[in-house]
Amino acid sequence: MIDYTDDSKILRADYSHTDDFADDRNETSLRPQMLNEFLGQKKIKENLKVFIEAARNRTESLDHLFLIGPPGLGKTTLAQITAHELGAEFKVTSAPALEKPKDLAGILSTISERTVFFIDEIHRLKPAIEEMLYIAMEDYELDWIIGQGAAARTVRIPLPKFTLVGATTKAGMVSSPLISRFGIVQRFNFYTTDELAKIIKRSSSILNVSVDNDAAVLMASCARGTPRVANRILRRMRDFAQVLGNGMITKDIVFAGLNKLEIDNLGLEKYDREILLSIIKNFGGGPVGAETLAISICESIDTLEDYYEPYLIQCGLLQRTPRGRIVTEKAYKHLGLEGFKKNADEGFLF
Ligand SMILES: Nc1ncnc2c1ncn2[C@@H]1O[C@H](COP(=O)(O)OP(=O)(O)OP(=O)(O)O)[C@@H](O)[C@H]1O
Ligand SMILES: [Mg+2]
Repeated sequence: MIDYTDDSKILRADYSHTDDFADDRNETSLRPQMLNEFLGQKKIKENLKVFIEAARNRTESLDHLFLIGPPGLGKTTLAQITAHELGAEFKVTSAPALEKPKDLAGILSTISERTVFFIDEIHRLKPAIEEMLYIAMEDYELDWIIGQGAAARTVRIPLPKFTLVGATTKAGMVSSPLISRFGIVQRFNFYTTDELAKIIKRSSSILNVSVDNDAAVLMASCARGTPRVANRILRRMRDFAQVLGNGMITKDIVFAGLNKLEIDNLGLEKYDREILLSIIKNFGGGPVGAETLAISICESIDTLEDYYEPYLIQCGLLQRTPRGRIVTEKAYKHLGLEGFKKNADEGFLF
């Protein structure tokens, strides 16, 4: 049912936020296809199940759906599942790929009744495209300009009743007229260790690798509350188990592997610790503005805000305040830098 072929603006796959192309292709194979395979996010799942069933019984399109949450928590997956559960066609694009209104019009003109049309990174829509989308979402019509100059006129083309699924990591950057046109708004939470352990178990059986229970829990506890990270750790541990062990992923293999990957007991990677260290050493523990911080760690502000910060905040290591980012007491403790905290309190910079 997935149609990636008929327009260059329709994405062939979602390869965002991952650094290894082979892993990206594996990500597609690990992606759950139906709601009962989608583990965790109980509230979202329960609600969506009702809305999908109701729409299916009425043979109507599902109301437009807005998915909010940090990278790798399952927004694209859930959009695809929604189409599968509805037995509907699925079309995918992302806002940066829509450069001109005609790009959006091109896709809208190919959709059918009840199509699930997914726009990723919807906070990055250009204003002219967003306006076109308002009419498409609300009135199921497309405003199209025919002719040029004085002879130009607008015609309204009727569209089939479709479902728009918009996803974003930055809900604050989506305009309120756009948000108000979504009938269903769902916010993702980080996953618990228990949920991630179940996801790891499911993925390991798809990848055909054995993982003992303790090892699954240990990997899950270091996966930043994020299924994409859990699957990535699993694939790396499979490599370690194959080369350093007998192929089975045990707790000892995971300990050794995490150590080699420099992932600590909270699941922080080297870059997370560098962010905290930079605030402590260069800015006396904060507050420091996001832009300055991003420059100091040579990272883009988007990656800092979307990928690193939400988990550091969730762990209680970092706080966002109106004056900037501040590291918490827990961060000093985690890094074994309590002495730095005392000096910073007394006004010393390092
Ligand atoms: N609830 C889940 N159960 C099982 N696996 C999941 C779940 N959510 C996500 N995954 C796995 O994590 C991978 C990443 O999920 P997905 O691509 O849907 O995240 P995303 O929220 O769209 O991220 P991004 O913001 O980067 O686009 C999927 O390929 C899938 O294998
Ligand atoms: Mg996605």
